[in-house]
Amino acid sequence: MTVDRRQAVATAGQGRLSSGREGGSDDAAIAASKAAVELVGVHKVYPAGSVTALTDVSLTVGPGEFVSLIGPSGCGKSTLLRIVADLEQPTGGTVTVHGKTARRARLDQDYGIAFQQSGLLDWRTVQANVELPLELHKVPKSERHARSAELLEMAGLTEFAKRYPAELSGGMQQRVAIVRALAPKPSLLLMDEPFGALDEMTRERMQGELLRIAGETEAAVVFVTHSIPEAVFLSDRVVVMSPRPGRITEIVSTGGWQNRDAADDEVRSSPEFFAAVAAVREALRNGHTGRDL
Ligand SMILES: Nc1ncnc2c1ncn2[C@@H]1O[C@H](COP(=O)(O)OP(=O)(O)O)[C@@H](O)[C@H]1O
Ligand SMILES: [Mg+2]
Repeated sequence: MTVDRRQAVATAGQGRLSSGREGGSDDAAIAASKAAVELVGVHKVYPAGSVTALTDVSLTVGPGEFVSLIGPSGCGKSTLLRIVADLEQPTGGTVTVHGKTARRARLDQDYGIAFQQSGLLDWRTVQANVELPLELHKVPKSERHARSAELLEMAGLTEFAKRYPAELSGGMQQRVAIVRALAPKPSLLLMDEPFGALDEMTRERMQGELLRIAGETEAAVVFVTHSIPEAVFLSDRVVVMSPRPGRITEIVSTGGWQNRDAADDEVRSSPEFFAAVAAVREALRNGHTGRDL
């Protein structure tokens, strides 16, 4: 359940709405409880044009924690996520995923990935798409079927199991992509603007579903977005980044209201929610000011 996940995070030392510089005792407490992701002094220079995409990024994501990366275009959000996924190599610093190197974690398929494009295979049915990572994990057929049926029901897509991606709406395709990423029950989910192409209503519904599904599987999530309300609604902590060079300027802890039994709409219209949105907006503004000075 979502509540269990939140409690795990609370145990890991998270405060209520507060903001502060990265590092400090919170990070130390999370690290002690076996981090999902640990980045220390990560630096990335792309040889093409000698672009410094990231400089001195240190961040610890606790088990079951939901962390969003937010910042203007070009601040290195995708680069950071791709480094965690071992799709890109850092120029300096260290990356640890569940105590392993990023490469080992990729080879062990320790995480699920969902990016902006759903990336579904057109020639496979919805069910076969969801089962793909399970096939790669060599999960027996009967178990694969049981798991995909369970996930598709969770996503409200049972009746579309035998359809092909092209027969589904964009929102449904994204839901398939998300449950596919969750199929092997990864304890880490990496998502890069997965709802970017969706209309606002679908997007809000998907956010609620993502929280529920990630909560049920107790997955830690690193979620890239450029939407402040989306980051605030989903996250335990919002990591604010600024460009040139890409770095973390502030971390806003937004946990607190998710522990209540409030409906999504109530959360979104609560004073705590608006306060967190304002805190993230101000952090983004400060990041810009610092750069321009
Ligand atoms: N493969 C690449 N080669 C050279 N520069 C790149 C490459 N990928 C990204 N960059 C540059 O690195 C910076 C960060 O990019 P990116 O991580 O995509 O930012 P974001 O996802 O926050 O928009 C940008 O200046 C971008 O132009
Ligand atoms: Mg990006």
